[in-house]
Amino acid sequence: MTRSDAAVLAIMAMAAVLCAPAAAELTRLEHPAKNDGSLSLLVIGDWGRKGAYNQSRVAEQMGRVGEKLNIDFIVSTGDNFYKNGLNGVDDQQFEESFSDIYKAQSLQKPWYLVLGNHDYRGNALAQLSPVMRKIDSRFICMRSFIVNSEFVDFFFIDTTPFQLKYWTHPGKDHYDWRGVAPRGKYIANLLKDLDDALKNSTARWKIAIGHHTMRSVSEHGDTIELLKLLLPVLKDNNVDFYINGHDHCLEHISSRDSPIQYFTSGGGSKAWRGAFQRNKDKVRFFYDGQGFMSLQLNRDQAQFNFYDVSGKILYQWSSSKMNHLQPITNVSEE
Ligand SMILES: *[C@@H]1O[C@H](CO)[C@@H](O)[C@H](O)[C@H]1NC(C)=O
Ligand SMILES: *[C@@H]1O[C@H](CO)[C@@H](O)[C@H](O)[C@H]1NC(C)=O
Ligand SMILES: *[C@@H]1O[C@H](CO)[C@@H](O)[C@H](O)[C@H]1NC(C)=O
Repeated sequence: MTRSDAAVLAIMAMAAVLCAPAAAELTRLEHPAKNDGSLSLLVIGDWGRKGAYNQSRVAEQMGRVGEKLNIDFIVSTGDNFYKNGLNGVDDQQFEESFSDIYKAQSLQKPWYLVLGNHDYRGNALAQLSPVMRKIDSRFICMRSFIVNSEFVDFFFIDTTPFQLKYWTHPGKDHYDWRGVAPRGKYIANLLKDLDDALKNSTARWKIAIGHHTMRSVSEHGDTIELLKLLLPVLKDNNVDFYINGHDHCLEHISSRDSPIQYFTSGGGSKAWRGAFQRNKDKVRFFYDGQGFMSLQLNRDQAQFNFYDVSGKILYQWSSSKMNHLQPITNVSEE
C-alpha cells in the first residue's frame, strides 16, 4: 500500500464514522415563560385519524381549555398519524388530521412533537422535514431534543427504536429506520447525549417526554426496554416527570422507589380498549377513554389536570418545590 492509498483509506474510515449515528449534543430550543414566571401547556397523544374516534371532540375541548389556561405550547407524545404515519411531505393527511382539526385560536401555538411507532411505519423523515413547517408553522417534530423554558427543561426522547420487537418481529409492518440503525449504537449515543444534557441542566424542573409507556396498566403495559435502559438515566438525574402516550388512555402512576411520576396522555382519538393489568408501581389514576392533559408550571408548583371529551376535569394532581428537599405532593382524586 502506498502512502496516498493509506491516506485515502483513512479519509474513507473517517467518513464512515461521520455517517454512522454519532453522539452529539441534543438540539436545544428556547421557549420563554410568561412575564409572571408561569408556563402552561397541553399534552395530547395518539391522535391523527381525520377527526374520527372523537379526535375532533378532543380538539374542540383542547381549544377551550387552551384559551382558559392561556397556553404557551402543545406537546404531542407521538403516533401523530394513523395507521402508518405520513407517506411523504405532500401527504394530505397532514392537513386532514392536524391543520384542519386543531383549528382553535388557542392552539395556534408551537406544537413540539415526538414520533410514535405508527409514525415510524410510514416515511418517518417526512414528519421531521422542515417542509412540514412551511405548510403549518406550528409543527416542530424532531427525534430527540430539548425545550428550555427558563425554570424547566423538557427532554423529548425518541423511544420507538428502544422496542426490540419492532426490529426483530415487525410482522407485516415496515419500520423506517433510516438514520437510526444500528439500534444498539443509536440507543447508546442517545442515552449518552441525554445524560450529558441532564447533567448540564440547572432547571428547577426536569421533564422527560417519549411515546412509549414507562409504567402502564392498559393494553401495552410497561415498556421493559425503557425500564431497563432509559429509567436509570432519568432517576440518576432527578427527572421529576416522565410523560408518554402509546396506551390510548389517561394515567398517573407514582414510582415506589423514587420521586419520579409517570403520566400517560394517549387519548387523542381511538380509545376504550377495555384492557387492564396490574402494575408494580402505585396507580393513582386511570381513565380508559379519550381526553388530554394540561400542565401549569412555575418555579415552585406543577399542576396536572386530565380532561375528557366534554372538557370535564377527571383528575388533578400537583407537586411543590418550595425548598430543595423532597417535593411535597398533594393528591386530590375525584
Ligand atoms: C366518544 O366519547 C363518548 C364519551 O366519552 C363515548 O361514549 C363514545 O364511545 C366515544 N366514541 C368513540 C368512537 O370512541
Ligand atoms: C450545557 O449548557 C450550556 C449552557 O446552557 C450550553 O451552551 C451547552 O450546549 C450545554 N451542553 C450540553 C451537552 O447540553
Ligand atoms: C392539598 O390540597 C387541598 C385541596 O386543594 C388543600 O385543602 C390542602 O390544604 C392541601 N394540602 C397540602 C399539604 O398542601
